[in-house]
Amino acid sequence: MGLLANAASTINAWGAPPVVILGCLTALVLWRFIRFTLLPKLHPEEPVEVPYWLPWVGHARAYISNPTKALTDCRMLYHDDRKPFSITIAGRRMYILTAPDDVTAAYRNFSTLSMDIFTQDLMRGFNVSPWALARVFEKPGASMQLVGPNPRRKSLAGLTVEHFRRQLFPGDKLTQLGQVTLDYVERSVRWENMIAPAYVMASTGQYKDISLLHWCEDVLLHAATRSFFGNAFIEQSPNVLNDFLAFDNVSWKLMYQMPHIISDDMLKYKHALVDAIEKYLDLPQDQRPGANWFTEMQELEMRGLSISTRDMAKLICAIYWVINTNAYKLLFWMLAFMFQDKDLTGKVTAELATCFRPDGKLDIPSLQSQTRYLTALWHETLRLANSSASARVITADTQLGPYTLRAGHRLLIPYHQLHRNLAVYGSNAEAFDISRFLNDEKLAQDPSFRPFGGGSTYCPGRFLAKQEIFMAMAFLLCRFDVQVQSQGAFPRMDDAKPGIGVVSPVEGDDMVLRLRVKE
Ligand code: HEM
Ligand SMILES: *[C@@H]1O[C@H](CO)[C@@H](O)[C@H](O)[C@H]1NC(C)=O
Ligand SMILES: *[C@@H]1O[C@H](CO)[C@@H](O)[C@H](O)[C@H]1NC(C)=O
Ligand SMILES: *[C@@H]1O[C@H](CO)[C@@H](O)[C@H](O)[C@H]1NC(C)=O
Repeated sequence: MGLLANAASTINAWGAPPVVILGCLTALVLWRFIRFTLLPKLHPEEPVEVPYWLPWVGHARAYISNPTKALTDCRMLYHDDRKPFSITIAGRRMYILTAPDDVTAAYRNFSTLSMDIFTQDLMRGFNVSPWALARVFEKPGASMQLVGPNPRRKSLAGLTVEHFRRQLFPGDKLTQLGQVTLDYVERSVRWENMIAPAYVMASTGQYKDISLLHWCEDVLLHAATRSFFGNAFIEQSPNVLNDFLAFDNVSWKLMYQMPHIISDDMLKYKHALVDAIEKYLDLPQDQRPGANWFTEMQELEMRGLSISTRDMAKLICAIYWVINTNAYKLLFWMLAFMFQDKDLTGKVTAELATCFRPDGKLDIPSLQSQTRYLTALWHETLRLANSSASARVITADTQLGPYTLRAGHRLLIPYHQLHRNLAVYGSNAEAFDISRFLNDEKLAQDPSFRPFGGGSTYCPGRFLAKQEIFMAMAFLLCRFDVQVQSQGAFPRMDDAKPGIGVVSPVEGDDMVLRLRVKE
């Protein structure tokens, strides 16, 4: 009561009559009691709702300022029992799942847990016109047909995911894509070609000092951009990778639908990217060879639906972002963690050396089969790099064990919460330790390990991501003696930025590597 009286007198300094203020406070206390104490008793089948004081606003402030901490705090409020709970952000209720069984059940239930609304939000974030959006989600019928095989009569949005899988799942198309990537990385990571001022900090006849972060950006963004769009795209818009990085840095403002007043930077870079893609699409097709099957198929289908070039550019921009945002950050953390440990660096380098054939060519299948330590490093980094969350909209009341999830609310599966489960990863769950994956081959299949999500939206790019990251490491470590030059602290993970993928390092945190040609 003392607190309330105190608050009342503080507010009263602004001149409202005390009766009004006391009335409001009483109403607030009553509301809070009914909503968070009484109602839950009447509805034990509802997951517990984490209490809050400001109606509508809910947990928005804590969540936006540090989502990981906000969710961990909520989980610990219930003594880490990992039962589902819900939070409210700006009027939206979100269920949070952190128990492996609940997560598995949710990934299975794609019929009532939909991601479409998020995909549409993303496309709206890129300002795709309502007409084009409707076309993309329209099911084929008498008035509308798609070009590619489509036995299950999916909308283009649904078919796009299938196209992704055809391009990116192991098979001919991934082999072809892998070869293009390999050719690029092989040329890019040669002494004489490592000259881009974006990452080369100093260069003499004997050594080069490079920024680890900017090298990771350079090699993987180039590789993916060229293997999806051919070389013409970058040649025509040489600044496109910088625009992408600048956009990626603030893209959470798009995902969280931040108001324009604080999104100027994001909007500017987004427009620059869309402009570059539009310019690419306006080039006659024979002047931009080398796009992969997926990109050509997307363009063909969208042109078939009479979608304008501007809308096509926006839709492709969303895809461009999804395919590029995670891999370079993961490569950065893998190398940063690895260089902390000389013994591990030696083992990974030795494994990678066995993946080169006698003629000096890198053998892609060996990257998969001869890299025990590197694979454990990949898994452990994926676990710790605090990647994002799967988000779904509940389209009909859904039973999850003893709980009922109500239609209209949202569902979030934050991987960070799964990846720190003490019951699965033991008491050192917070620490970097590849031996947990080395010693337990099944751990990477555990339902509490979900760096690529799951269910119908299980990341189709996971094979390519692994392949291109391993390739880049193979050439870096086998061609050069690498010495960590920077003396500073280990790069920090940027907790404060609302996460939507692999976490980036804190602005300015990096590592400097000194490279010398081997022998
Ligand atoms: C280390 C790198 C990567 C990580 C950690 C990662 C992670 C993820 C995650 C967590 C999701 C969402 C799953 C869900 O909501 O259930 C996702 C979706 C997706 N990823 Fe990745 N990804 C990576 C690399 C890539 C690459 C290289 C590509 C393409 C070349 C790609 C293409 C996609 C696509 C198209 C989707 C959407 C699938 C859908 O909507 O059905 N990803 N990824
Ligand atoms: C990232 O965005 C912040 C503002 O949110 C800005 O201060 C910073 O310079 C940006 N960094 C890069 C590398 O673009
Ligand atoms: C998904 O949830 C619905 C509604 O509770 C239920 O009828 C259905 O059996 C569930 N499906 C799966 C695959 O769990
Ligand atoms: C990432 O993980 C580290 C180490 O466990 C933790 O200290 C940090 O808070 C996490 N950050 C995010 C954004 O999840």
